[in-house]
Amino acid sequence: MISPRIHPSILSADFANLATELSRISSADAVHVDVMDNHFVPNLTIGLPVVKSLRAATELPLDIHLMIEDPDTWAPQYAELGCESVTFHAEAAGAPIRLARELRAQGSRSAMALKPATGIEPYLDMLGELDMLLLMTVEPGFGGQSFLDLILPKIRRARKAVDDQGGTVALQVDGGISAETIQRAAEAGADTFVAGSAVYSAPDAAAAIAQLRSLAG
Ligand code: DX5
Ligand code: ZN
Repeated sequence: MISPRIHPSILSADFANLATELSRISSADAVHVDVMDNHFVPNLTIGLPVVKSLRAATELPLDIHLMIEDPDTWAPQYAELGCESVTFHAEAAGAPIRLARELRAQGSRSAMALKPATGIEPYLDMLGELDMLLLMTVEPGFGGQSFLDLILPKIRRARKAVDDQGGTVALQVDGGISAETIQRAAEAGADTFVAGSAVYSAPDAAAAIAQLRSLAG
């Protein structure tokens, strides 16, 4: 299992000052970027042009979380921009295996996300196609929601499946991660943690990142 990684979500940042907001999280392991299309989720954020500017504005790896319909069409375009990791939702992908392979072929890490009510079992045979599995710990769409403890058993099942397959798939959780919840997610087997409000609402974002990392370790 890899050492804990903290990916602050810029969904909770000030969108009028993204360069400054990126500099607040320079000690993070990656920047988590939530792309929403108001179809797959009831919210609308940013797309390719802003991500292209973010790519040029930071040395941090970009972890793109696509909450959009038709990721088969769009996800490869984020890989082409040089995003280190591109996550599509299993519920939205027409051909998840082909898409995961396409992302890797373009030099990106391939990642797939599951909404809280989506079971993991149908996807266990394709873990080898993925570099990261994202288990949502809130219903996707908004920051600042409460962590769903009912996802903990799914995290444990995913951890066991990854370990049994001898793989190196990172296990990411996203939603409601804070100093109060991160230990439960880590104990269940997550190793990569998205935190939006917990990092960006802190007066000292670097201290919040360090605290989360140490609690998860
Ligand atoms: C929610 C997004 C999350 C969000 C997390 O749909 O995918 O990445 O920014 O925000 P917090 O950490 O505040 O729950
Ligand atoms: Zn996200």
